[in-house]
Amino acid sequence: MIVKKSGGLAGVIAGKTAISSVGKGNGLKYRGYDIYDLSEHCQFEEVAYLLIHGELPAANQLNQFRDRIIAGRLIPDALKTALQSIPRTAHPMDVLRTAVSFLGCLEPEKEDFSNQADIATRLLGILPSTLLYWYHFANSGIEINCCTREESIAGHFLHLLKRSPVNSNHVMAMNKSLILYAEHEFNASTFASRITASTLSEFYSCIATGIGVLRGPLHGGANEAAMELISKFDSPQDAIQGLKDMLIKKEKIMGFGHRVYQNGDPRNIVIKSLSHSLSIDHPEAKLYEISEVIENVMLMEKGIYPNLDFYSASAYHFMGIPTSFFTPIFVFSRTAGWAAHVMEQRVDNKLIRPGAEYTGPGNREFIALSERMH
Ligand code: COA
Repeated sequence: MIVKKSGGLAGVIAGKTAISSVGKGNGLKYRGYDIYDLSEHCQFEEVAYLLIHGELPAANQLNQFRDRIIAGRLIPDALKTALQSIPRTAHPMDVLRTAVSFLGCLEPEKEDFSNQADIATRLLGILPSTLLYWYHFANSGIEINCCTREESIAGHFLHLLKRSPVNSNHVMAMNKSLILYAEHEFNASTFASRITASTLSEFYSCIATGIGVLRGPLHGGANEAAMELISKFDSPQDAIQGLKDMLIKKEKIMGFGHRVYQNGDPRNIVIKSLSHSLSIDHPEAKLYEISEVIENVMLMEKGIYPNLDFYSASAYHFMGIPTSFFTPIFVFSRTAGWAAHVMEQRVDNKLIRPGAEYTGPGNREFIALSERMH
């Protein structure tokens, strides 16, 4: 048997997808559409529709889709009770994972999977509501009303967070950010969701899998880790020396590097420009300068580029979003991508179950419990 030496499955083509294409000199495309066109011209809801249903929606289809997402914002009483029992100290990613799991008990998927797209739409609507319902209850004991007049997921999330109508620049920036995060081929969380789908498990388990995998700092959690990094430094000068010291100690710099993009993450251009415009006149604008300095040092010292998570950190911070919400925002968006992949996996399913090269001891003689000495 030939065992390919591919740590972390790097370079392994593990299946086919028609949902997105990544890298190979061709940037990032969702179903053939360039990420720059989508982030420039679309609402996140249009992109979610594209991913889940395969085509960009016509105006009436978009309106209906948006109405269903808005209807999906309401939280059932039983889920509210469950959210009220989650401690304030819980990580918001654990809250979302729990909410998805609990909703799966209340509104289960049909056995023939015929309501899978409805569940995807419901999750797009309810996830921001659940997070903010828990957040305000846990921190202030307030049961917020999860209805807002905001049409977009971006606006709804920001409105519930601030509990007031939102700055339109922030809604625009959040909308673009959601588009950038929506889909990325066989990244770790999507691949994990597909593995769950490949066992013919139900939809909520696939999404809960994705949330659990996304949480780690080598994946979605990197945007929170990047915020911790840039907050450590008092000035750009401080950041230059601090970063060099970290590199000497061979520390990983969060928000840098990518398994697929060796010459830069195409999404970085968009998020960096958003971070820059949000920094203008912001009292903590130096965080943008610190980020730029870190980017330059990483390029000079390591030849490694920032990924989408790096400038997402400062952009979200400038919008007044708590750091522990950064990865949950990724969930609000990537749910569209996960859903598309679960649905694609189910169309031509084959159990995903790779082999492993055994490295343990050779055959051994069994020793009875009473005779084991160690
Ligand atoms: N900081 C410092 N060095 C880094 C680095 C980073 N962020 N990313 C990669 N490297 C270095 C590694 O130390 C390694 O150097 P070596 O060959 O001297 O040991 C080399 O680059 C290859 O890195 P490796 O981790 O093996 O590449 P990968 O393809 O497995 O990793 C990531 C990709 C994303 C896991 C990795 O770049 C990383 O951990 N980045 C930080 C976390 C992050 O931002 N995750 C979000 C990804 S979108």
